[in-house]
Amino acid sequence: MSAPSDTQRMEKIVSLCKRRGFVFQSSEIYGGLNGVWDYGPLGVELKRNVKDYWWRVMVHERDDVVGMDGSILAHPAALKASGHVEGFSDPMVDCRLTNQRFRADQIPLQSGTIFTYESARDAAPSGRALQALAHVAETDAEPKFNKTAITSSDALDLAKRIVERRKLSVSLPKADPEAIELFFSHLGDLLRQHPKSHWEEEFASGYSVPKRAICKDAFSVLVRPGESELKAKKTAQAFYQKRGLNLPVVVPLPPPKEVKETRQFNPENGAELTLPRPFNLMFKTSVGATEDESSIAYLRPETAQSIFVQFKNILEVSRKKLPFGIAQVGKAFRNEINPRNFTFRSREFEQMELEYFCRAEEGMKWLEYWKEERLKFYENIGIARDKLHVFTVPDEERAFYSKGTYDIEYEFPFGRQELEGVAYRTDYDLSQHQKASGKSLEYFDEETKQRFVPHVVEPSVGVDRTVLALICEAYSEDHAPDEKGKMETRVVLRFHPRVAPVKCGVFPLLRNNPQLVAKAKEVVALLRPHMTVFYDESGAIGRRYRRQDEIGTPFGITVDFETLGEKDPALRDTVTLRDRDSMKQERVAIQDLPAILRERLA
Ligand code: GAP
Repeated sequence: MSAPSDTQRMEKIVSLCKRRGFVFQSSEIYGGLNGVWDYGPLGVELKRNVKDYWWRVMVHERDDVVGMDGSILAHPAALKASGHVEGFSDPMVDCRLTNQRFRADQIPLQSGTIFTYESARDAAPSGRALQALAHVAETDAEPKFNKTAITSSDALDLAKRIVERRKLSVSLPKADPEAIELFFSHLGDLLRQHPKSHWEEEFASGYSVPKRAICKDAFSVLVRPGESELKAKKTAQAFYQKRGLNLPVVVPLPPPKEVKETRQFNPENGAELTLPRPFNLMFKTSVGATEDESSIAYLRPETAQSIFVQFKNILEVSRKKLPFGIAQVGKAFRNEINPRNFTFRSREFEQMELEYFCRAEEGMKWLEYWKEERLKFYENIGIARDKLHVFTVPDEERAFYSKGTYDIEYEFPFGRQELEGVAYRTDYDLSQHQKASGKSLEYFDEETKQRFVPHVVEPSVGVDRTVLALICEAYSEDHAPDEKGKMETRVVLRFHPRVAPVKCGVFPLLRNNPQLVAKAKEVVALLRPHMTVFYDESGAIGRRYRRQDEIGTPFGITVDFETLGEKDPALRDTVTLRDRDSMKQERVAIQDLPAILRERLA
C-alpha cells in the first residue's frame, strides 16, 4: 500500500479524531472558537493517561519531587516581576489586503518581483452620473430603473443597453477596469456631442476625471518567479476596491524590483504586510465587581510562575533539601496570533511542568539529566526515539537569563516541531519575585550555613502537544481480512497500552445467546476495577475488532462456546485474548485476565 502524503495523513488524523470522539472544535455548533478545542470521551481518557503517567514518573516514583496545583488567575505583580507583562509578546503583522494576522517570525522566506502602485483612481462614474445613466438607459419618458444604489456592474449593463439602443460605435468592454474606463469616456464624449436630454448632459459632465474618486495609498505586491504582472495588478485592484473604489485603475510606480528571501508579503496572496509590532499574548481579565487598573488579573500564560511564587511555602511544608523539584499540571492560556496545526498551537492548553531547584554549580549537570529523563519518558509512552530530536537552542535564541536550553522536537506530519523545552533558567525567576515582593525566597543550607537563591532547571511540555504526537505516532493503515476473508484496509491506532484510552474490548460471540452475554458481562465486571473496558455485542466479531483497532484498544476478549464448556470441558471459563498489533489470539482463563492484562499495561 502506498503511504499517504504528510498532508493527507494529517487530514485523516484530524477526521478520525472527530469521527471517533477524540477532539472536537470548541463551540462547533456556533461556528467554532478559533484555537480552542474540546476533548471527547476517548480524548479525555488519552489525555488523562498521559498526565497520570507523567505524574507517576515525575512525582510519585521520586523522593525529590512534590506536586502543587496553582490557580489559573494570576496576580499582575507576579507576571510583571516575571517579565510577562512587558515582554511576553510575539511580533505581529497584518495583510494590508485581507487584514489577516500573522506572526512575523513565522512568515516563510519568499523571493520574486515586487510591483509597487503609487495610487489608483476610479474608472466608474460618480453617483449622480450613474443615476443619469440609469435614466438615459431607460426610455427618457418613463425611467424604470428604480434602484437607489447603482453598482459598477449595473452601470456597465445600463451603458451597454444605451450603446445597443442608439447603435453607437463604441466597443463593449470586458471586466478589465481600464477597458471599462475607456468605454465610459467614449460614451460620455458621444452623448456630450449630441445630448438628447438633460440626463445625457448630466452623465457626460458627471463622468469627468476630476470628479472621480482617487486613493493615494501606495501598495506593493510580490509575485513569485513564473507568475505574471497581471496577478500583481489584480491584487492591487482588490486592495483599492477595499478602500472604496469601484473599478480602480492602478498607477504603477516602476521599476519592478527583484527580491530574495523577504518576509514582508503575505505568503498566500503576495500582498504587502504592515510593519511588525509587538502583541502581548496574555489574556487580561478583571477580578471583582469594579473594572479598573486595580482589578486587572491575567489568565496564566504558563504554570511555572505559581511554582516560583509558592516556592517558600512548599519548601517549608515539604522540608525538602536541594536538589528538589515542584511539579504541576494545569491549564495555560496564550492569545496566539496564528493558532494552527490542529491542537499543536492552541489558545487554551495544558502544561506539565517541573521546576527542579538546585545549587548554581550543578545547574548544567541537572540540565543534561532532565533532557535524558524526558527522552526516556517519550519512549515509555510509545514515541519512537528516532522520531525525536534534541535541538540545542543557540545562545542568541535563548532567553537572556538561561544558561542552556534544549528543545525536544517530534517529527509531526506538518514538520519537525517543539514538543518540550528543557531549560536551565538560573536563579532569574526566584530573584525577580524576591525583588518585586520584598519577601526572601532564599534557601538555607544547614550544613554550610549559607543562604542563597537556588537555581532551577525546567522541563516543560504541553499535554495537548504530547497527545497530538501520540495520535500521529499511533496512526497506521494496514490490510486485514474482513469476516468473509476479503482483504480490506484497516485503520489502527497503535497506542502504547499504557496510554490507550480503552484498554480492552469484551465481546460475546453472539448477542442473542443469554449465556454468552451473561459470561461476557461477568468478564467486564471482573476487569472494570482495574482498567477501562468497552463492552460491545453488536455486529460481526471482525467488525467489532476493527472498531476497537481504530480507537487503539490493545486487547480484545471474546467469550465463545468454548467458554461455556460446550466443546471441551477443559476450556470452560477460558476466553480468547486478541492482541491488536499482531492480531494473534491466545486462550486464557478468565480468572487470570486481571493479572495478565495489568502486567501488559503497567
Ligand atoms: N514555562 C516555560 C514555558 O512555558 P514554552 O516553551 O513557552 O515554555 C512549554 O512552553 C511547552 O508548552 C511547549 O514546549 C509546548 O509543548 C507547550 N505549549 C506552549 N505553547 C503552546 C500552545 N500555544 N499550544 C499548545 N501547547 C503549547
